[in-house]
Amino acid sequence: MKFKEFFFNKLFTLKNLFFLGNFLALALFLVVLYQDFFREWKPYQAEYKKRQIESIKKKMEAVDEKGKEAFTDELKAVKRRSPEVKQILLTDLHRVDRCVTCHQGHDSLVNPSLTNDFPDHPFAAPDNDIHKKHPFEKYGCTVCHEGQGLATTFVGAGHMPASPEQKEEWKHKHDWEVVEYWENPMKAGPLIYASCSKCHEAMPKVPGMDIVKKGKQTFFENGCVGCHQVNGDGGPIAPDLAVETSVKPVTRIDFGPAVQAGLITKNERILENWIRLHFATNPAVITPGDPEGHLSADPKNPQPVPPSAMPYFGFNHEETESLTAYVMSLKSEKSIPYSYRVTAPKEPEPQFASATQHGRYVFQKYGCVSCHGKDANHGIAVYNRQGTYVPNLVKTVGTFTKEELIKKIQVGVNPEAKEDEKGPTPPLFMPPFKERIKGKELENLVAYLFSIAEKQEAW
Ligand code: HEC
Ligand code: HEC
Ligand code: HEC
Ligand code: HEC
Ligand code: HEC
Repeated sequence: MKFKEFFFNKLFTLKNLFFLGNFLALALFLVVLYQDFFREWKPYQAEYKKRQIESIKKKMEAVDEKGKEAFTDELKAVKRRSPEVKQILLTDLHRVDRCVTCHQGHDSLVNPSLTNDFPDHPFAAPDNDIHKKHPFEKYGCTVCHEGQGLATTFVGAGHMPASPEQKEEWKHKHDWEVVEYWENPMKAGPLIYASCSKCHEAMPKVPGMDIVKKGKQTFFENGCVGCHQVNGDGGPIAPDLAVETSVKPVTRIDFGPAVQAGLITKNERILENWIRLHFATNPAVITPGDPEGHLSADPKNPQPVPPSAMPYFGFNHEETESLTAYVMSLKSEKSIPYSYRVTAPKEPEPQFASATQHGRYVFQKYGCVSCHGKDANHGIAVYNRQGTYVPNLVKTVGTFTKEELIKKIQVGVNPEAKEDEKGPTPPLFMPPFKERIKGKELENLVAYLFSIAEKQEAW
């Protein structure tokens, strides 16, 4: 028999193909059945049911026959419950949250009282004031916790460990890793309070938000607005932390140098860590630029890029965490309807006894301190600037007349002379404040600066 004949007449006959097709369909069906049977969430639901039955039985033991009857219906209902994916549909908030598929204590259909005595997650449903103030049917989970609402796996939901010990534990227990391609992993520990400001304008008054309040204070004291804006308000040197940074897609962040320096691992590349690194380490290490122009597209005409202009503040752990929470809290979600927002009156400007005290406050408020130091007696280093440092105003202001000083503040200085002609343009300049500091604020700022100026020697 010729091969061709054998092939078409004996082996690949319609009948054989039909059998083969059926066999494949059956195999596929079994695979699906197998996968479905071993869904990660199923054992959690089974365990929750078991514990619920046990606790109802315990309650039944403690009462007389008549009292028992009250529990029989409840027990029946629990026993009848079959495993299924549970979800909270939140049309107003544009999300679907399936967290209750595992966290069954938080599902009002499974556990109407929304409390229980189970100590461990995902079974626990402790009394939590914040949960009580925001009914799950209306708020779901991810509007506060973040994470991936639609996911039904531990890793997929975007759980984040709150400590290195928990991270190691989760790696063993749950094969934990950062969920890939998901911009908003859960906020662990106190960082969750960064979510509250999506709706609560009066954030310092909201309980638990001390961490954000502390971050805001540190932000103010260090004059970050001298370089950064927050919703358009602030200096032109660096990104707007609300509009740009707090919603920055991970794909737009260059984690390369940070990973190379061993500061984070490849799968810790999330926005939260990017922000944190700016406080925990020297920003010039994670954004080293290309000061010699080695990476330029055209080697004959190199375009050197200076390292990050952001100074290394040397913040401690607490300051680092609170600043991270504050910057994360600047994220706004435009899709949250107005009816979910809690507005509050603006905090009033503080009052001062004298013009110079007010002037000192103005120096702080507009972030002059970030470049010139808290008492105007220090200047940060500027890469490749002639003179290297921002001037120490205590030493130089005395050489100005009042008009000259006002003009300097209003117009700023730009661009600056380079130390090395071939090097990059210095990344810092004195920004103009004409549009922002006026009237009494300008007057008192000038009064303050003259009050601290060193007397100049007469020629
Ligand atoms: C596949 C089941 C599953 C899903 C889905 C799930 N979780 Fe969890 N969750 C767990 C388990 C298991 C733990 C306990 C982890 C541990 O400590 O071992 C946990 C723990 C937590 C914790 C406590 C973390 C801590 O620091 O102890 C929070 C908060 C949490 N989950 C929130 C959520 C939110 C919000 C969602 C939805 C976006 C969600 N979970 C979806 C299983 C799940
Ligand atoms: C209004 C905001 C908000 C919503 C909505 C919300 N939570 Fe929470 N949740 C919190 C806060 C705040 C805490 C307390 C965190 C702390 O103090 O450690 C918390 C704590 C928890 C914990 C305990 C964490 C721990 O460390 O022990 C779990 C689990 C949890 N929430 C799950 C959920 C689930 C599941 C949903 C949705 C059904 C949900 N939460 C909805 C704000 C919220
Ligand atoms: C999606 C919007 C939203 C988010 C996110 C949110 N809240 Fe609320 N919250 C509200 C609304 C709306 C109210 C009801 C205000 C009212 O009744 O006047 C409220 C009420 C409260 C109350 C009770 C206020 C009172 O006077 O009784 C507290 C406390 C509170 N929220 C704290 C928090 C905390 C802490 C967070 C973050 C973990 C948070 N909220 C996140 C919208 C939100
Ligand atoms: C002297 C100017 C200057 C000061 C002061 C300064 N920064 Fe920066 N910052 C920069 C520049 C320039 C960048 C962008 C380059 C980089 O990523 O390092 C930056 C980047 C950042 C980023 C990452 C932004 C992004 O979108 O990638 C964060 C977050 C940040 N700064 C927060 C702060 C905070 C908080 C303070 C105050 C404690 C502060 N900065 C003070 C200049 C400054
Ligand atoms: C982003 C950093 C930065 C911020 C913020 C900043 N300055 Fe400056 N300032 C500089 C630099 C750089 C120079 C030096 C410019 C030059 O002459 O090359 C300078 C120069 C000056 C001078 C002139 C001093 C001299 O010796 O020539 C005055 C006065 C001054 N700044 C006041 C202020 C005041 C007031 C504020 C706040 C309203 C402020 N600066 C905010 C960077 C800054």
